[in-house]
Amino acid sequence: MDQELFESVDQYIGNLLGIEDDALKGAFKSTEDTTMPGANVSANQGKFLQLLARSVNAKKILELGTLGGYSTIWLAKALPLDGHMITLELEQANADIARQNIIKAGLDPVVDIRVGKALELLPLIEEEEIGPFDMIFIDADKPPYAEYFEWALKLSRPGTIIVCDNVIREGKILDDNNTDEKVKGVQRFNKMLAANKQVTATIIQTIGSKYHDGMAIALVN
Ligand code: SAH
Ligand code: DHB
Ligand code: MG
Repeated sequence: MDQELFESVDQYIGNLLGIEDDALKGAFKSTEDTTMPGANVSANQGKFLQLLARSVNAKKILELGTLGGYSTIWLAKALPLDGHMITLELEQANADIARQNIIKAGLDPVVDIRVGKALELLPLIEEEEIGPFDMIFIDADKPPYAEYFEWALKLSRPGTIIVCDNVIREGKILDDNNTDEKVKGVQRFNKMLAANKQVTATIIQTIGSKYHDGMAIALVN
């Protein structure tokens, strides 16, 4: 329904305001070689994430789910020279692709890719006392989104912005009887987000070159 129009408008916005440099173009293309082709954010969504990072003056960013490093590059470009970004990725093959893309973007001095299960890596980050992070982007596997969000809160301070991708899933979240583990994961997350008193949050529906979805945005009180 109107998908063609949404795509054309996404292109229009991208041509005006979502211009990718060669490193971003390369990273976008190379997600085809990852384990989840096409799961990267769109160019305009990347720009949006970058704008949010800039607006909170982010010096430390944490990302869950690197894939080929496309969103990583958009975000890391928002960092000052002494900034730092940690991105967590389960698959070594994806991390290898991301590393090459991040090097090509000249961002390897500020980006630290860690390979493993996010729920195993997060306690190590807490022990290392690297936080609090200024911005956290949750975009890994969907079933444990609620647990990821709890970890994000632990690694936050008042003013931290937490963004969670893919929480609308073409509106499938409206169906309480949906049995897809991804849908159930984000339904559970959305409910806990609504009940959480530690954040001021909303969800923005996203349309365009990606299928209909949404991003939750939470500001830690
Ligand atoms: N943020 C990327 C897209 C991420 S796609 C972008 O927009 O460019 C989701 C990624 O999460 C995949 O690379 C997948 O391998 C990774 N992933 C899946 N389960 C994970 C886990 N338990 N821990 C860390 N990463 C995981
Ligand atoms: C899926 C994951 C993503 O991060 C995304 O942006 C799109 C789809 C998925 O697991 O289906
Ligand atoms: Mg995503």
